[in-house]
Amino acid sequence: MFAASRIASAASKRAFSTSAANLSKVAVLGAAGGIGQPLSLLMKQNPHVTELSLYDIVNTPGVAADLSHINTNSTVKGYTPENDGLKSALEGAHVVVIPAGMLPVKIPGVPRKPGMTRDDLFNTNASIVRDLAEASAKYCPDAHFLIISNPVNSTVPIFAETLKKAGVFNPKKLYGVTTLDVVRASRFVAEVKNKDPKDCKITVVGGHSGVTIVPLLSQSGETFTKEELDALTHRIQFGGDEVVQAKNGTGSATLSMAFAGARFASSVLDATVGGKKGVIEPSFVQSDLFKDQGVEYFSSNIELGAEGVEKIHGLGEISDYEKELISKAVPELQKNITKGNNFVQ
Ligand code: NAD
Ligand code: LMR
Repeated sequence: MFAASRIASAASKRAFSTSAANLSKVAVLGAAGGIGQPLSLLMKQNPHVTELSLYDIVNTPGVAADLSHINTNSTVKGYTPENDGLKSALEGAHVVVIPAGMLPVKIPGVPRKPGMTRDDLFNTNASIVRDLAEASAKYCPDAHFLIISNPVNSTVPIFAETLKKAGVFNPKKLYGVTTLDVVRASRFVAEVKNKDPKDCKITVVGGHSGVTIVPLLSQSGETFTKEELDALTHRIQFGGDEVVQAKNGTGSATLSMAFAGARFASSVLDATVGGKKGVIEPSFVQSDLFKDQGVEYFSSNIELGAEGVEKIHGLGEISDYEKELISKAVPELQKNITKGNNFVQ
């Protein structure tokens, strides 16, 4: 009896670990890039990950060989387009994180200048994201897709429309990664209030560019002067520009983005593989919150569950100041989303 129950329990453990193993392949597309490399390093440290699959058009064999020496339990494989690399990278993936793209600075003769917006990346990144979505629809239609490539307000609709065309779109499993905005907001508010950022949780809603980034500072539990409010709001909305300017034409945020992307991916794994409840993160997802104003995707706090987006949180009570910010965000979001939708249609 005792032996039988031990055997049963061993069998159920084996069944669990087999299904967990199948569920925990994480693919990073754009893995050799500025974000891709440190993001992959962080994912190598995540205990839920059993296989790390690194795809890029160049250099992934080296990145994979390097990461594969780290003594955590996941295996690491690097793929390039040769030998059906994208297919192998995606097959069986549970989570696909996408920081693939081209920064204008890398296109000869088109250096990135201060003042450029994320929308200026559309022409280079739209087709990259569409092609990766087509492959994802084919090789891992049930995966969770985390889109980092800019402009997020348009690349998420591009990814969604491409999956829809293939008949495999699941809105609960497509996320625009806006975590960096809340990471920055927390840090910037902590600096102003001389606090530990872990005690400054700031909700940020809307989208991921300029005026579409709307921090809800009235919900932070802190009080701000009008000057502080203006300065913080501007800094959170245009935090990306600080990095672009400091990097002086060589790129945009990579390390803080890797941190933020790994945080979001880890939350998805915690909820979907780890069975953790009450996991809440912000994300740009298909949402009804502003649908009546023609905005099909919106970033707000979402609760993650075993199947992805379980609940989309509303904005709660917001100040007149924030209502004004939302009124500026909505038309810009409409424009960005339509541009993404039209690209595929
Ligand atoms: P990067 O140029 O350093 O890296 C991009 C990588 O993508 C390169 O290694 C490139 O070879 C690869 N790539 C190009 N085409 C590909 C394809 N078809 N398949 C697979 N890989 C491909 O750029 P980065 O600094 O890592 O930034 C990547 C993207 O992330 C940019 O669009 C950037 O604007 C965006 N970004 C988003 C956020 C956010 O908060 N969502 C934050 C920072 C940066
Ligand atoms: C960021 O917020 O840092 C990214 O979206 C990159 C950029 O172009 O600003």
